Amino acid sequence: MPRILSSVFRSIKYEIQKHSRNSVCNFSSQPIFPTRERCFVLGIETSCDDTGCAIVDNKGKILGEALHSQQQVHLDFGGIIPPVAKKLHQEHIEKVVQDALKASHLNMDDIDAVAATVKPGLPLSLVVGMNYGKELCRKFAKPFIPVHHMEAHTLTIRMIQKVDFPFLVLLISGGHCLLAIAQAVDKYLLLGHSIDDAPGEALDKTARRLKLRNIPEFSKLSGGQAIEKASERGNLLAFAFPSPMSDYRNCDFSFAGLKNVVTRHILHEEAENDAFFCVGTEGDQLIPSVFDLCASFQFAIALHLCRRVQRAMEFVEQNDLLPLNNRTLVVSGGVACNRFIAKMLQVVCNEKSYQLAIPPPKLCTDNGIMIAWNGMERWLTNAGIVNDLDSVNIEAKCPLGKDIRDAVAEASIKCKWIKHKVFIAAIQ
Ligand code: KG4
Ligand code: ZN
Repeated sequence: MPRILSSVFRSIKYEIQKHSRNSVCNFSSQPIFPTRERCFVLGIETSCDDTGCAIVDNKGKILGEALHSQQQVHLDFGGIIPPVAKKLHQEHIEKVVQDALKASHLNMDDIDAVAATVKPGLPLSLVVGMNYGKELCRKFAKPFIPVHHMEAHTLTIRMIQKVDFPFLVLLISGGHCLLAIAQAVDKYLLLGHSIDDAPGEALDKTARRLKLRNIPEFSKLSGGQAIEKASERGNLLAFAFPSPMSDYRNCDFSFAGLKNVVTRHILHEEAENDAFFCVGTEGDQLIPSVFDLCASFQFAIALHLCRRVQRAMEFVEQNDLLPLNNRTLVVSGGVACNRFIAKMLQVVCNEKSYQLAIPPPKLCTDNGIMIAWNGMERWLTNAGIVNDLDSVNIEAKCPLGKDIRDAVAEASIKCKWIKHKVFIAAIQ
């Protein structure tokens, strides 16, 4: 290993060891703060188009929860319009928080702290939840816990099963795509992220361009859900998509190129149809190869994710970044609901001796529970609890943890890829 890399990793390994020694946030450890046996955190999520609230206790029990989704409105608009999202958050936040509290049979006096997403996300949306959370803190004299949305997606799994730090995490959603090592509640090493679209964004835009909403049973589904369902009717080997960033031996992602290949094919097929059959594919009509395109596109996205994860695992192996006998890949974010992608990732985990841990779909997509649980993990470890409310503000963009993408690229790991036929056998 080059000297510069080995010194980076000595310090990374030291950090990991230090954190696993000091870690107080697995279930068996004693919380250092507070001293009460049972405590409750109320969490608020408004980073994008879901208004969510939940109350959880320190054992991960969900006392009450409520969620208002704006999905249908944004599907009708053909995408998220930030001022519309803001208005809907404002209209629903009061009821969502009150519903969650009512379901919990607790009142604000019982709550130990209030957590709210403050970064990253749509500024107009973030500000609604943060301000509402701060107001609760002022009114009931509670501490505030600002939450990083991607940290919350990462930690959700620890609410439902035992996953010790450090672990590898892949977050795939409508707004984000990243690979990281989670070392502690508030410590992450960023191995890679998307240089353009997030996978959910590419799926949503492609579903819209393919007019999947015109198929009645798909009309209320998100783009990603619709493509997953449509793919079941298609042949994933019908179209061969290029492998994104195959010349870059790093762990970054790119989905815009794949999306553009589909768009070009749609345009081509629409033009062909118009010329040969004199029937326009304008308006409501779907192109004949719609299901094959969905299946091949989904396969290409899954394969790209699998390859970046495989390289990340080989990087971990080379640099001894995770304990040998206890390696877990956590996958979360909305796209982690996709069972096809999960099966493909399971193949990589089997090959590399990792446990695969994915929260149930309800906890993969945005919700208030994950924010409340992130707040609880921080409350139990006394990490980032705020009393001066004015010191906290929203941040539209905010990377997760320490960026070591350059070190990953410098390692330039040439992987021996898992064969297509191994994936095909697993998904049939
Ligand atoms: O995590 P999330 O609720 O919001 C963001 O933080 O982005 O993720 C929403 C994304 C959307 O792009 C949606 O199309 C995608 O998750 N999604 C799926 C599935 N369910 C939701 N993508 C693929 N397959 C699914 N089953
Ligand atoms: Zn999310």
